[in-house]
Amino acid sequence: MKYDKRILCIGAGFVGGPTAVMIAYKCPNCRVTVVDINKSRIDQWNSDSLPVFEPGLDEVIKATKGKNLFFRTDIEKGIRENDIIFVCVNTPTKTFGAGAGMAADLQFWEKTARQILDNARSPKIVIEKSTFPVKTAQAMERILMSRNNGIHFDVLSNPEFLAEGTAVRDLERPDRVLIGSRNTERGLKARDELVEIYANWVPRERIITSNIWSSELSKLAANFFLAQRISTINAISAVCEKTGADVSEVAKIVGMDSRIGSKFLNASIGFGGSCFKKDILNLVYLCRHEGLPDVADYLEGVVRINEYQKERFVMNMLEAMFNTLASKRICVFGFAFKANTSDTRESPAIHVVKRLLEEKAEIVVTDPVALPNAKADMKGLAGTVRYEGNPYRAVKGCQAIAVMTEWGLYRELDYKRVHDLMVKPAFVFDGRNILDHQALFEIGFNVYPIGKRPLSHFQGSPAG
Ligand code: NAD
Ligand code: UGA
Repeated sequence: MKYDKRILCIGAGFVGGPTAVMIAYKCPNCRVTVVDINKSRIDQWNSDSLPVFEPGLDEVIKATKGKNLFFRTDIEKGIRENDIIFVCVNTPTKTFGAGAGMAADLQFWEKTARQILDNARSPKIVIEKSTFPVKTAQAMERILMSRNNGIHFDVLSNPEFLAEGTAVRDLERPDRVLIGSRNTERGLKARDELVEIYANWVPRERIITSNIWSSELSKLAANFFLAQRISTINAISAVCEKTGADVSEVAKIVGMDSRIGSKFLNASIGFGGSCFKKDILNLVYLCRHEGLPDVADYLEGVVRINEYQKERFVMNMLEAMFNTLASKRICVFGFAFKANTSDTRESPAIHVVKRLLEEKAEIVVTDPVALPNAKADMKGLAGTVRYEGNPYRAVKGCQAIAVMTEWGLYRELDYKRVHDLMVKPAFVFDGRNILDHQALFEIGFNVYPIGKRPLSHFQGSPAG
């Protein structure tokens, strides 16, 4: 079959995979190929057990895989055969050398840029889909144009705003699609070509164009704004616990101001995920490098509050459980960094479990889909960690439950049965404020929410 466009996604991860699937689904006239250096990931995409858990992904992939969507390992062939290349490789925080722990590790995209240069035999539109530091497009252009061999490359920035757990919905009905380009005749032509792909399903007024640097910076800024709201409500949750205010009431009242809005104001154990921390630190690094230390400090505060919130949670557990956790069995409800994903990258549960193990607690982790990743994250840690899919079996013999992920199933458990299975006094630390605290208290639990008065049966306590 003759296709209108031949599209390649380099990087078959949480972004590259679902993005390619959606383009193939919405553009049957395009052939979409996804490549990755990780063969086992490609094998998984080609199997029935996908490497990422995303509600709704199975259906769209069934409609496209093997028709106009292909997962392959031959990256060089992919580059030769396709005209439009989305770069979806990972951009983690650097762990070595200058900027370690702050700056983005750029080795993955640079390898890709050089591979494109080495294998391209015809002009290509190269699209930054991953989240890159500002000015990466320029560096990419410099590498691609370094040979002067008559092949032209147009570099566009098209950052992705999907959130895990809702990726299919976010890709199908995005708030906006952002395309940054050079303001040259060629740059604008390349931009328009990408606009036409998205216009197959995204209303045109939602397709925003800008210059490349605004596009790169807007992605980092958007993640900062979102994370900042969470750190703000989490900081307020600490004040609530000291004053008797209720963080859910405060969030509702504040969020009813239409200038503020109600989303992303759920106080929690802290934000996780592979991007918020890395992208903020990336911005912090840029600001320090550009001589903006005050801005850098302001931005970094959001990450600091997040670390504080996780540690505060552990210290609250320790204090509530009579200042010792040694040999106490604690059940962790959820290990994914949020509900509806198996992803555990930067999950707050990792910090909490590590700290509980340092206190010599015994841990049982339960999660509906993230246990394989949890096991990998916890590998090699000293201490006792057990993994159990069934929450009722998981709580048996435990003294406390720590809710880490807002999975709906934890709302629906029979907590009378849970209480019967546990050692008394039994504690619930609700790091997501998803449970019915009063009902738990009446069953007999001592309940410690985030940013709300604890409900405890001990004498002298507020509810005792
Ligand atoms: P990921 O780690 O899940 O996937 C990246 C993939 O790229 C991996 O499979 C890796 O093997 C592959 N890869 C690395 N170098 C390669 C190379 N040279 N050639 C071919 N393949 C290569 O990462 P992700 O979560 O998909 O994130 C990718 C980018 O998208 C990051 O910059 C991230 O900040 C951004 N982003 C992620 C999300 C999200 O929800 N995960 C949302 C928006 C933006
Ligand atoms: C986030 C952004 O929402 C996406 O727009 C962005 O594309 C993506 O990062 C990225 O660049 O990788 P994601 O990390 O997948 O998406 O998930 P979020 O829904 O943003 O949640 C992040 C963390 O914040 C989770 O741990 C979540 O539980 C926590 N959170 C979220 C709260 O603690 N409170 C809230 O009110 C909202």
